[in-house]
Amino acid sequence: MGILSKIATNNGHGEDSAYFDGWKAFDRNPFHPTQNPEGVIQLGLAENQLCFDLIKDWITKNPYASICTAEGVEDFKDIAIFQDYHGLPEFRQAVAKFMGKGRGGRVTFDPDRIVMSGGATGANELIMFCLADPGDGFLVPSPYYAAFDRDLSWRTGVQIVPVHCDISNNFKITREALEAAYERAQEASINIKGLIITNPSNPLGTTLDRDTLKSLVSFINDKNIHLVCDEIYAATVFSSPKFTSVAEVIQEMDCNRDLIHIIYSLSKDMGLPGFRVGIVYSFNDAVVDCGRKMSSFGLVSSQTQYLLASMLSDDEFVDNFLVETSKRLAKRHHNFTKGLEQVGINCLKSNAGLFFWMDLRHLLKEKTLEGEIALWRTIVNDVKLNVSPGSSFLCTEPGWFRVCFANMDDDTLQVALNRIAAFVQQDKESEKPTKKRWQQNLRVSFSSRIYEQGVMSPHMMSPHSPIPQSPLVRART
Ligand SMILES: Cc1ncc(COP(=O)(O)O)c(C=O)c1O
Repeated sequence: MGILSKIATNNGHGEDSAYFDGWKAFDRNPFHPTQNPEGVIQLGLAENQLCFDLIKDWITKNPYASICTAEGVEDFKDIAIFQDYHGLPEFRQAVAKFMGKGRGGRVTFDPDRIVMSGGATGANELIMFCLADPGDGFLVPSPYYAAFDRDLSWRTGVQIVPVHCDISNNFKITREALEAAYERAQEASINIKGLIITNPSNPLGTTLDRDTLKSLVSFINDKNIHLVCDEIYAATVFSSPKFTSVAEVIQEMDCNRDLIHIIYSLSKDMGLPGFRVGIVYSFNDAVVDCGRKMSSFGLVSSQTQYLLASMLSDDEFVDNFLVETSKRLAKRHHNFTKGLEQVGINCLKSNAGLFFWMDLRHLLKEKTLEGEIALWRTIVNDVKLNVSPGSSFLCTEPGWFRVCFANMDDDTLQVALNRIAAFVQQDKESEKPTKKRWQQNLRVSFSSRIYEQGVMSPHMMSPHSPIPQSPLVRART
């Protein structure tokens, strides 16, 4: 008998996996435009860093909202002692309003259904605790967010049952695939309690169309199981088709609303993952009630609630922020994917998220999982780009990679593009590229650009971790 618990000693957290080698490579050797121009560029982090100037500007203009300021200190005591797990009423109102605006104002949210949690990570686990018992199963369409194993299963004991989707129909979630997974689970005597989807999708960067959403609602309704929609990328949609929330769809159809739950967070839409603002929004009263009690384990700091209550109820700021963020994401996405296209690399057509799904099937030496991992190791170790292999999202077809595009500045992006171009060129020139030759190309192409630019200001630098830390903490976003 071990001295620690089963949870403490099992590998459910997922940190000990090959996937994190890329993170370790980045942490050991992070790119810096002047101090380490040949370091690894982080393309594996789904952070939205494109609109910080707007947030900084608002904070500067509204110093009272930060509380630990001369203008805010009068409210300091009241907020510092506040710990009610219902949350500040003005915070819940502001978040509900923001969720409505982030969905184009086509749907409204009831502040009394807003339950707080520590990020969407905590919210996803909390909803599992409310809906399923250890050993129960949840259907998850693949490819899926790599940390779902940790978030949905590790501490709850819930089993993930993948619903396999593939490129033959652009990774669409079909009724047939759902039925097949459901049947498989039944054969294995797994009691399926629900279906969880990410919409917009991580890792695909696509949104679900209305008909697909309706068919998912019909499916769960027929089976009398839950539907959890992780909509944390709702406001990252940057081109058509526009985002459709499950909250809109259930207004138009006959279904049992007690089965419908939305997960939200400000980590992606606002770019504030460090604030740990996660939301469970359930249409089921009993889930709201139980979730609120459970939220004691992962409350959002009252200082953060207070600041965000102010910021998110500023209509002018929010309206501008939402327009600007999608404009900037669109531009970045366009520049990156067009640059790749020029060197013969296509990506799955996408309209949302902080990443795209890059197709490198033509560069595989072997069309197997091993072939994908071999190519990925070359990209991480030699090309020095940390992208995430499709297999870490349980993609069944080898050769797809997730590339994050909003966590760096334009110059770093250009360096990344130059490296890929040099790599593809070398691959074309020789079946067996010698590391040396293409690395020479690479050095010429990006170092000349750096000298053109001169020294960059610190806030423009590529993100890297100055303090060695567990890769998982930042890895699976
Ligand atoms: C689909 C999805 N859900 C949840 C999370 C976790 O988000 P948070 O930082 O709010 O915990 C992420 C982060 O990448 C995600 O992509």
